[in-house]
Amino acid sequence: MRIDLKKSVELLKAGRVVAIPTETVYGLGACINFPEAVESIFTLKGRPQDNPLIIHLAEARQLDRYVLKKVPDLQLLTEVFWPGPLTLVAPIKTDRVPSSVRAGLPTAAFRVPMMQTTRDVIKKTGPLVMPSANLSGSPSATHPMHVESDFGQEFPVLDGGFCSQGVESTILHYGKNNKWEVLRLGALPAEAFIDVLGYRPEVIVRPPEQPPICPGQKYRHYAPQATLHLCLSQKEIQGSPIIGYEDRTYPENAFLVPLGRSTDPETVARNLYSALRTIDDKGYKEAWIDLDVPHTGLWLTIIERLQKASQ
Ligand code: TXA
Ligand code: MG
Repeated sequence: MRIDLKKSVELLKAGRVVAIPTETVYGLGACINFPEAVESIFTLKGRPQDNPLIIHLAEARQLDRYVLKKVPDLQLLTEVFWPGPLTLVAPIKTDRVPSSVRAGLPTAAFRVPMMQTTRDVIKKTGPLVMPSANLSGSPSATHPMHVESDFGQEFPVLDGGFCSQGVESTILHYGKNNKWEVLRLGALPAEAFIDVLGYRPEVIVRPPEQPPICPGQKYRHYAPQATLHLCLSQKEIQGSPIIGYEDRTYPENAFLVPLGRSTDPETVARNLYSALRTIDDKGYKEAWIDLDVPHTGLWLTIIERLQKASQ
């Protein structure tokens, strides 16, 4: 059910869960201090309790209420990248964040979304916890119809149209080696931080035998029902449908799900989850993905999502 901003605020303040648009993906929002609403987020999504939630703020200065100590460059990162698709993990005053939100960790994840509508809601409700508005394991929702497909037509969604970025926020934390590290690649590539930090934060890939720093890493993600074949060279494409690019030629009889131009990763990111959902909606049991693309910048986020989706 599509609802307006006023109704969304009303429901959230009454302790209900509402799907809210952000520039990255739609979120399942609940007020941070409504334990039952937070609880129902986990139930609705089928999300494991040990996977903590991101706290969404209306403005950066709200962070002061939560953080225990300012780690180096935390302030600077918020000044440069907020509002925007960056999530920062920081040590917190644990009594200020319910344990269920942070999965019992002494840290919590924060972001100030770029989309004005999102911040307008949060200004009225106070901080919202929001995981992506999809069933656990499925591709994230980048349009209200995706939310409705996962949670039913009656589920309340604030309609913000298509998300402008289309992939989740990038998550950074301050690591043991006294440097910021990327816990999850996202809408901001690792290169985006070089000018500000003076180095490219390392992208942490968890060795399988170690417990994850970012609990979300250990779960299957972003996956459609169909089997996905990732093709690092165009020669590997051996069937149809093909998730590919408008500016490339594929076998004439193949069904193409276009992601955009192969020179435009921003558009590709924006269309990515919709494309994965299209494969299932059309009833295909498998699909070939043209991943003959550069291994730099935002492409690395796109590649990572598709690798997870194909596992
Ligand atoms: O773009 C986004 O970030 C979207 C929109 C709705 O804001 N939200 C989103 O939330 O992607 P979710 O729940 O799907 O992913 C949150 C990720 C999980 O992988 C979780 O493990 C990690 O953030 N996370 C949360 N708190 C953490 C913490 N204290 N330490 C490490 N990782 C944390
Ligand atoms: Mg998610």
